[in-house]
Amino acid sequence: MDEKTLTTLPGTRDILPDEILRWHLIEDQARRIFALYGFEEIRTPLFEATELFARGIGGETDIVQKEMYTFEDQSGRSITLRPEATASVVRAYNEHHMGRGSGLTKLYYLGPMFRYEKKQKGRWRQFYQIGSEVLGSDHPAIEAEVIEMILALLEPLGIESRLQINSVGCGACRPRYVEVLREALVKDLAPFCEDCRRRAETNTLRVLDCKVESCQPYIDRLPKITDYLCEECSEHFSRFKGYLDEARIAYEVAPRLVRGLDYYVRTAFEIISGDLGAQNAIVGGGRYDGLSEILGGPPVHGFGFALGLDRLVMIMPDGVIRNSASKPDLFLAPLGEAALRRASALARTLRQEGVRCQLEFDGGSLRSQMRLANKLGARHVLIVGDTELTSDRYTIKSMEDSRQWDASLPELVQYFKSL
Ligand code: HAM
Repeated sequence: MDEKTLTTLPGTRDILPDEILRWHLIEDQARRIFALYGFEEIRTPLFEATELFARGIGGETDIVQKEMYTFEDQSGRSITLRPEATASVVRAYNEHHMGRGSGLTKLYYLGPMFRYEKKQKGRWRQFYQIGSEVLGSDHPAIEAEVIEMILALLEPLGIESRLQINSVGCGACRPRYVEVLREALVKDLAPFCEDCRRRAETNTLRVLDCKVESCQPYIDRLPKITDYLCEECSEHFSRFKGYLDEARIAYEVAPRLVRGLDYYVRTAFEIISGDLGAQNAIVGGGRYDGLSEILGGPPVHGFGFALGLDRLVMIMPDGVIRNSASKPDLFLAPLGEAALRRASALARTLRQEGVRCQLEFDGGSLRSQMRLANKLGARHVLIVGDTELTSDRYTIKSMEDSRQWDASLPELVQYFKSL
């Protein structure tokens, strides 16, 4: 039988050991920064009731209309692989009464999300986000602090980025703006692309997000939401900008920034990087004060963001990786069976002392083992042969400067500790 060789599905991929170091670096950095700012981790299920996302993200959004991985389980329940985590976090916050008694709840998460999107550079069907949500405050200062935290995360990773902010108004002022926008659009729809013409009626705000080149000059001329904000939203936006200024965070006001999820009110923002092409957003977020009620909970203020890990990994400069590579500290090259047993015991003790060891089991000449050590990027090689077995002293070679000397096990431990 001629069986087809199976491979990954479109929009998914294996993340191989060669690349994983980049992921670990970002994840470690994120956990460190989140701790500094007082965030705790939450892990929610990878699948939830479809209704959670349909209601939370909004029935007219592209995500809900076209991109969800939805299926029925054996009990006939409609299940969806999470396309994002904010709705899940708010659900969990209410389900576990996390807001009870305390003012602010600060949570972060890290993991895969699923969207059936057209494959494109920087766009996957299983992609990874690191995100955080602050529940329980409508203060604009918390928004600026969260953005400061994201920048503190990105900067040591060598990422050049630009912050774009906007206010998308609230239930009181946005409907009026949408009406003004719709009227302006229908007056002359001819120059717009087919998607825009359709959206003018069905999902008017999304026209602002159109990427088609020929639409751009016409979209730029449309009314701007910032001119239609109610007094409260307008004041909130000014205060938010004031807090950014105080923290010396540079930003651009982008009146066309509307985001692809319906739950946002007031502050919306994205962080973009020029190195990514069309899918240039590495971070997206904003305020979602009404989301809890949409999900059947009490009124809860919320503000958060999610960062696209796949995109960050793509644009992280190599230099950052090289400086923190987790290569083996020591490659042990045993020559023969008895030497292998001794090398194994040495590696055991050295690992207990925190030395990263790689041991070669299949023998081979010293030359071939040296080649392997080189390939692995080992910083040192320890040779265990007949002489070493009897003397209990081992030849160690530094791969960085080719220095070679011999040392007993306690001396080796001492040496690696001193590095
Ligand atoms: P989002 O803008 O849909 O927001 O996604 C946030 C980030 O996830 C994007 O800026 C991008 O970097 C990454 N991303 C999204 N889709 C893909 C994809 N198909 N492939 C690769 N990366 C992708 C949210 O998800 C909101 N939950 C953010 C939020 C949290 N708002 C408030 N709290």
